[in-house]
Amino acid sequence: MRKKVIAGNWKMNMNLHQSQKLVSEIINGLGKDSKAEVIVCPPFTSLSEVSSLLKGTQIKLGAQNMYYEESGAFTGEVSADMLKSVGCEYVILGHSERRVIFNEPDELINKKIKTALAKGLKPIFCVGELLKQRENGETMQVVSRQIEKGLEGITAQQMKNIIVAYEPVWAIGTGKTATPQQAQEVHLFIRELVAKKFSSLVAENIIIQYGGSVKSENARELLSQKDIDGALVGGACLKSESFLGIIAAA
Ligand code: PGA
Repeated sequence: MRKKVIAGNWKMNMNLHQSQKLVSEIINGLGKDSKAEVIVCPPFTSLSEVSSLLKGTQIKLGAQNMYYEESGAFTGEVSADMLKSVGCEYVILGHSERRVIFNEPDELINKKIKTALAKGLKPIFCVGELLKQRENGETMQVVSRQIEKGLEGITAQQMKNIIVAYEPVWAIGTGKTATPQQAQEVHLFIRELVAKKFSSLVAENIIIQYGGSVKSENARELLSQKDIDGALVGGACLKSESFLGIIAAA
């Protein structure tokens, strides 16, 4: 049985004070008996403080991005070591907003995944098709290219530390969720790809999250699908009540 993993991607929201308030509410609301694994991914500027507040809780800390080089003249970038030093265990890589707005290609994402793993961070590796690609019937082709290129050179052993998040781009921040059937179809496809590329054991154990307008109202049905092992939540994680509602549905 795979454990459900619910991650909140705060994106470019929450200043330091707001971050402290939100994470405190999540900690208090969650108590000690959450069945699901919970991850929060605040902006860089709040990581250190949120990390302190998370001490002694079961909630894990993740970052939203990083660069693949170890250190040096890369103005504005953040390294894996820096993220580790403030208590991050996870890092979101390949998010569609990085791919689309900041033009990150598969090759760059692959380098980031390799560095993250080498430094002991667990990537939450995002894939997903644009609306046009879905309409053209290219969903599986796009997802399979992203998986192939993003995971090039990764070993079966390393796959134990990777979460895949399927996020159809047309469902992100739009209020348009993929139907549980649409999502399940792609999740199964991803699991089969992983089985072919690595092994059936790796495929059985890998966590595949769904992301794209997940809220407490639709979480239960999505999360009850056989191959949906969790959620990567954007908008609905910015209010403790709705994020806690999604966790409770897991
Ligand atoms: P959303 O974002 O829940 O606001 O659609 C999801 C994501 O981008 O991870």
